[in-house]
Amino acid sequence: MAVRALAALLGALLAREVVQARSSRETDSVIYWSIALDHPSTELLSSRWRGCSDFVPAEESGIVMKEQYHVTLLFVGNASDAEIARANPTMLRNASAVQELRRRLRRHEGQPVQVEVSDFVWEDGHIAAAPAQLANTERGLCANVHPHMTLGMAPGAMAVESNGLLARRFAEHHFHAGLAEWLRQIGLGQYTKILSLWCRKNQVTTLEELSGRAAKAAAAIEPDPSRRAEVEKILRSSLARRINELPTARLQLQGTIEAHRAAFVVV
Ligand SMILES: *[C@@H]1O[C@H](CO)[C@@H](O)[C@H](O)[C@H]1NC(C)=O
Ligand SMILES: *[C@@H]1O[C@H](CO)[C@@H](O)[C@H](O)[C@H]1NC(C)=O
Repeated sequence: MAVRALAALLGALLAREVVQARSSRETDSVIYWSIALDHPSTELLSSRWRGCSDFVPAEESGIVMKEQYHVTLLFVGNASDAEIARANPTMLRNASAVQELRRRLRRHEGQPVQVEVSDFVWEDGHIAAAPAQLANTERGLCANVHPHMTLGMAPGAMAVESNGLLARRFAEHHFHAGLAEWLRQIGLGQYTKILSLWCRKNQVTTLEELSGRAAKAAAAIEPDPSRRAEVEKILRSSLARRINELPTARLQLQGTIEAHRAAFVVV
């Protein structure tokens, strides 16, 4: 009897430990995953950016340059896996995909990786970024549609806005392919389908044309008048800042996959 009770107790304790280990793994307290550039690559990228003709105008427009660079792979914050999936619908289909990505990132923690940079993109008085090309094996570890390193931002701007900058740049070159992500970035993602149709029907093939016809577009896609005015305003003002692109000779940079964990974990 005593042996059986002891076995049951041990079993219960073991089960509890397994559950605790599993839940501490699932909520691994990582705030974000990134590729952090190593020191020589940081120096190389910094001197290339500082040496190019756009650097001074970018700084004079109000952008405060960073000293350290990283490629964000997955931003977690306080979000649940389902919320992360909703925030990254293109790369992460659902909560299971987020869990799988977190597992893969944990397996790759500390691994060295190559990052290639071949241009700089910046928006007057707002934000500057270097689009980052990752090898195929690492591309799948990044939840962002346009992997990048933020080079600097104006006071009040957030590094996450590099995603909007690069979505705009891509949509300016590839209107139909880039429209959905750009609309998502400016907060109009829910209109993607109807607005794409409207653009095709009205032969709108550039962001500039779309922004210029903001009133007509908004009227076609949003029946509610107050909401329609808001959509029109967003479309009209979305290209207000000038965007600048500067190709540079290909830079091969080295970094490491890192987890940034919360300092205190409440269990
Ligand atoms: C998470 O939530 C806590 C408490 O609400 C807050 O203080 C903290 O800034 C949040 N962290 C992030 C990364 O959003
Ligand atoms: C997530 O998507 C995958 C692939 O479409 C599917 O197999 C899986 O069942 C989905 N998981 C959930 C929780 O919806």
